[in-house]
Amino acid sequence: MKAKLTDGREIPIEMHKVRVIQRTQLPPVGQRLQAIEEAGYNTFLLRSRDLFLDMLTDSGTNAMSDNQLASMMVSDDAYAGGESYYKLGEAVRDVFGCEYYVPVHQGRAAEHLLAKIFVKPGHAVPMNYHFTTTKAHFEMAGGKVYEIYFEEALQTSSSNPFKGNLNPDRLLDLIREYGRDKISFVRMEATTNLIGGQPFSLANLKEVRRICSQHDIPVVIDCSLISENAYLINRREAAYANSSIGDIVREIIDQADLVYLSGRKSTCVRGGLMATRHKEYFDQLKAWLPVYEGFITYGGMSSKEIEAMAVGLREMTDYNVASSSPDLIEYFVDQMTSRGIPAVTPPGGLAGHVDAMKFLPHIPQSQYPAGCLAAALYLVSGARGMERGTISMDRDAEGRDVFSDLELCRLAVPRRVYSCAHMEYVADRLAWLHKHRDLVGGLEFYEEPPVLRFFTGRLRALNNWSRKLADAFIADFGEGA
Ligand code: F0G
Repeated sequence: MKAKLTDGREIPIEMHKVRVIQRTQLPPVGQRLQAIEEAGYNTFLLRSRDLFLDMLTDSGTNAMSDNQLASMMVSDDAYAGGESYYKLGEAVRDVFGCEYYVPVHQGRAAEHLLAKIFVKPGHAVPMNYHFTTTKAHFEMAGGKVYEIYFEEALQTSSSNPFKGNLNPDRLLDLIREYGRDKISFVRMEATTNLIGGQPFSLANLKEVRRICSQHDIPVVIDCSLISENAYLINRREAAYANSSIGDIVREIIDQADLVYLSGRKSTCVRGGLMATRHKEYFDQLKAWLPVYEGFITYGGMSSKEIEAMAVGLREMTDYNVASSSPDLIEYFVDQMTSRGIPAVTPPGGLAGHVDAMKFLPHIPQSQYPAGCLAAALYLVSGARGMERGTISMDRDAEGRDVFSDLELCRLAVPRRVYSCAHMEYVADRLAWLHKHRDLVGGLEFYEEPPVLRFFTGRLRALNNWSRKLADAFIADFGEGA
């Protein structure tokens, strides 16, 4: 929700009261330098005690509502047949209109089951854009992921409202090339995470649905950020300006054969969900669920989180809930662009993103500019973001780096956790860093796992640049800032 001020400005305004708080602290820059060094310049390996603002992710880090917390107290901890599972079923029917559903322990568990059931060696899996765990699961099953976006999706400075759209012409090309039988399904991701949280439009989704129906190919939607995508449709797609978030969510789901989500995002819990109107898909999921997740009525989730997911599913269709994060992100992006920082535009869901190749043009992709920016920003602000670039891509079969389409430093905005002041602070420190960008140098790996290396890999700063950057920061702000 936005409030219009007398001077004409619009500011995001919280439509909730903060009744419970968690203290944070600003560790001095010397402590931050030691912490990032020990973390191998990988922000995943920092400890919470060394952070001021945790903008690593919006996954499992959102503020839950009073009603979600209250619901957890009445959960039913039965191994089988627990009432919490049936309450979730009512919410899935009311919000998604799907008869069949299974809880799973988180989003990637759903991707694992999808891969197990649908993706066979030699298959193509077309999508608007990949997510790291999605690609890992589908490729491990022998599939090939095709990202068939429009060219503008990769332009970080843009006014295109729907950079998450899938290119239907390229989909038709793939169908001609592979034939229906070798396409597992078409996957649409709500607010494409890795290219800046950019939404798809309902017009585009319906076109995808039309083509898939013609060729009898299932449509799968990753709904992890569905409420944010629905809100951005309401704001940007004229035909839906007067539709409720609930109606838009429902219309999105109506285009799918199967949907899944990480419950850690829009629904503000820790868990995952798969839902479908087709009994034959449900029967296949049901068969594998006890092998990988747990009995069907809990699927690897705690019953408390299942109760809270039922509440979160309904709450995410409330305009004030759906808008809370995108409105603050828009404010954050405005704060950045007005200071000359190359932030990804238009603002999306999930996070504010900075184009590291524009921010640090002197650092080649082989030295991981987005990783350098995330580490440097932590050093000068205590705010932890995430590398979304070449470090987040694994090497090819010959051991060569696969250069990412984009090098983004992602600064996630968890729902209902941070304020406008926090956003201004981060934008200000980014502006300082931008002025001193020549002090930021490259990184190289010294410890590197073979799959999803960005989680636990360790790197070193070339030519000791972090010490020099810390010294310049101390000269301007002092040791304690
Ligand atoms: N799909 C999307 C679009 C995601 O953003 C994520 C996770 C997943 C699937 C996997 O879900 O973590 O519950 O297993 N995104 C997190 C992030 C990790 O930080 O963006 P998960």
